Amino acid sequence: MIFRIKVFFLALMITGLYSCKDETNSKAEPVITSTVAADVEGYDETYRPQFHFSPPEKWMNDPNGLVYNDGVYHLFYQYYPDDIVWGPMHWGHATSPDMVHWTNKPIALYPDDHGLIFSGSAVVDKKNTSGFGSEENPPLVAIFTYHSMEKEKSGRLDYQTQGIAYSLDNGENWTKYEGNPVIGNEGIKDFRDPKVFWHEETFRWIMALVAGDHAKFYASANLKEWELLSEFGKQKGAHGGVWECPDLFKLPVEGSEEEKWVLLISINPGAPNGGSGTQYFVGDFDGTTFTTDQMETKWIDYGMDNYAGVTYNSEPNGDRIFIGWMSNWNYARNTPTEAWRSSMTLPRKLSLHKNEGGYYLKNFPLTQFDRITKGKMLLPRPVSLEVPFEREFENLSQSELKFLTSPGANISVTYSNEGGEQVCLQVLGESSEMLFDRTRSGIVDFEDSFGLAVQKQPYKPEGDLVQVRIIMDASSVEIFVGEGKHVFTNQVFPKQPYTKLEISGSPDASLDVLMIRDVNSIWHPEK
Ligand code: FRU
Repeated sequence: MIFRIKVFFLALMITGLYSCKDETNSKAEPVITSTVAADVEGYDETYRPQFHFSPPEKWMNDPNGLVYNDGVYHLFYQYYPDDIVWGPMHWGHATSPDMVHWTNKPIALYPDDHGLIFSGSAVVDKKNTSGFGSEENPPLVAIFTYHSMEKEKSGRLDYQTQGIAYSLDNGENWTKYEGNPVIGNEGIKDFRDPKVFWHEETFRWIMALVAGDHAKFYASANLKEWELLSEFGKQKGAHGGVWECPDLFKLPVEGSEEEKWVLLISINPGAPNGGSGTQYFVGDFDGTTFTTDQMETKWIDYGMDNYAGVTYNSEPNGDRIFIGWMSNWNYARNTPTEAWRSSMTLPRKLSLHKNEGGYYLKNFPLTQFDRITKGKMLLPRPVSLEVPFEREFENLSQSELKFLTSPGANISVTYSNEGGEQVCLQVLGESSEMLFDRTRSGIVDFEDSFGLAVQKQPYKPEGDLVQVRIIMDASSVEIFVGEGKHVFTNQVFPKQPYTKLEISGSPDASLDVLMIRDVNSIWHPEK
């Protein structure tokens, strides 16, 4: 609250305007609060995200089964309910009416005789092709990987198979199919993470699956019998680690009539700044085969903490909404939290663009995020960065910063605290590079690769002005430059909240329409 008051008076001083009108968008919206499972206290711990999804307690990794059905956005996730490190996997479950607020639900899928429940997807089987429901009450069908620990321990390679389960009450209760597994394994060591979607053009289900160093595509009329169609990728893209969590979908190319297919592939290790990361291919899918003439490897995010991200099926507005796991296998099990481990990225809209260098994806927070922000514009008119912009705040760790700057200039944005901890973003127009430094961000010594190196990415701004947007939530920093063209997603663990903001730059750099906003907690309306 003190932070809000301070920002408010700063706004008065800077703009010279007085207004009792709050600029928040949230007034017109109904108040929705996320709910926590009844028996769990919390969402109050140090480092606990206040507006990102994290499990009520214990270990979480990949988002799974992202699907919209009947007013509900489902988020299932890789979950180990007995410890804060990875263990026998279940599918945890949460739902949202708006992709901002979440309600925790009971565990959806438990391990069984076929194995643990690894990552996968979910579909609304509208035509009841599976026969699990009826056309009046279409089933939700989850498609996932079974991982048999017994087979793995005995040295066999065929320990991952694909299974399905269905729900007739919009995800409340699940029944495993008695004919599981629906795809067996002929000796492929890493054979997992099915993403299934309805392919309207060929009127059948398509599955993207990964098999070590490539993707395989399958087709089915009923979600139970699958036919192998084709393979992609042995000679394409990055291969520094095993391929995981594929996703395949069609997107319009913004500003044109063209449509292309996008294939997301997570890889671990082998990401540009180390450990886990997500690459993508833009190409064509004819119902059988995916092809691309893309030569260079493209990454959805150059930060170290956006992995295993996939997109929603059946999104009612036709948007392609992405959620990633905000961690990295390099150090996921060592981060300094105790009650729970890790959170998801903010839900982001994917859009496809084209310039002389080819196609590229942007990922950017959904507009609904604005409903939980509150604040004022601090700089309504452009100023030169000859004099650095500096402000003190009570607490910047639940905030959003936005401003515009000149694309060719060098600027640097630093958040720091009185303990001398800091994170720094540098946007370097002159050398076409962006850098993110968390080497002195707080607790960094729980694993070597966490705070060792400054992260880098190529920077190719478009247009006369570039927007820089930074969203901080207790232990995460999400940076979007150029509306999601250049993204860094990272965890940080400061020993005390950041309180000082400093923006400096080359003399030709400008700063315009700068806003700092508080972001409300989705778990505690008063915070
Ligand atoms: C990705 C991943 C998946 C697998 C799951 C197991 O992070 O390794 O490939 O299904 O996690 O939890």
